[in-house]
Amino acid sequence: MKAVLFDLDGVITDTAKYHFEAWRDIAKSLDIEIDETFNEKLKGISREESLDRILICANKVDSYTKEEKLRMCEEKNKTYIKLIGSLTSKDILPGISKLIKELRENNIKLGIASASKNAPKILESLGIKDEFDCIVNPSLLERGKPYPDIFIEGSKMLNLEQYDCIGIEDSYSGIKAINDANMTSIGVGKKEVLGKCDYIVEDTGLLSYNTLLQVWSKKVDLA
Ligand code: BG6
Ligand code: MG
Repeated sequence: MKAVLFDLDGVITDTAKYHFEAWRDIAKSLDIEIDETFNEKLKGISREESLDRILICANKVDSYTKEEKLRMCEEKNKTYIKLIGSLTSKDILPGISKLIKELRENNIKLGIASASKNAPKILESLGIKDEFDCIVNPSLLERGKPYPDIFIEGSKMLNLEQYDCIGIEDSYSGIKAINDANMTSIGVGKKEVLGKCDYIVEDTGLLSYNTLLQVWSKKVDLA
């Protein structure tokens, strides 16, 4: 195990709830109702594709022009930015700061593989941006999660083989991306939602360097 690539929203900080809140407002203004179960399908998915998924579920995907959709995405981001306005280091999820410290003490590289264009800003607010050796820019990739590209790009930025990397995710699409990148997948959440992971924890407080190393070693031994 030479690197850990972290998803951001829902793994490092609980911003997933703010994405949901902001989308629920946009959907409401279009007479569409979305609930938490539907929201699982938006986790890990880019802003633009999330809007399409919301419109598709209401059979409205062809009802708006490109420009209108762009404005809706901008509007959603404005609400989201307001909601994350007061994030500080106190908003780092349990166990994550300790995990980052343990990984660094053991010379493990750290990367961010998030679909969010707001990732650098959020990491800055949390006060941990400098802990990461790379932050993949999702805007430069043609395909988002569930395609493996963002994780593969992370391993390239760190000059590492994919099998030497672990990915941590809280979404179905993210776990699929890690698995298809031939990395060890660690899920945060419930098995029914996340699908097949190499290891699952119900919350981030249960993650540790030793556990990750064990899961990675077992997977590589079996391969
Ligand atoms: C992912 C979230 O991390 O980032 C998605 O899980 C979100 O819900 C996506 O749509 C894009 O985020 P942003 O900040 O660029 O709108
Ligand atoms: Mg996430």
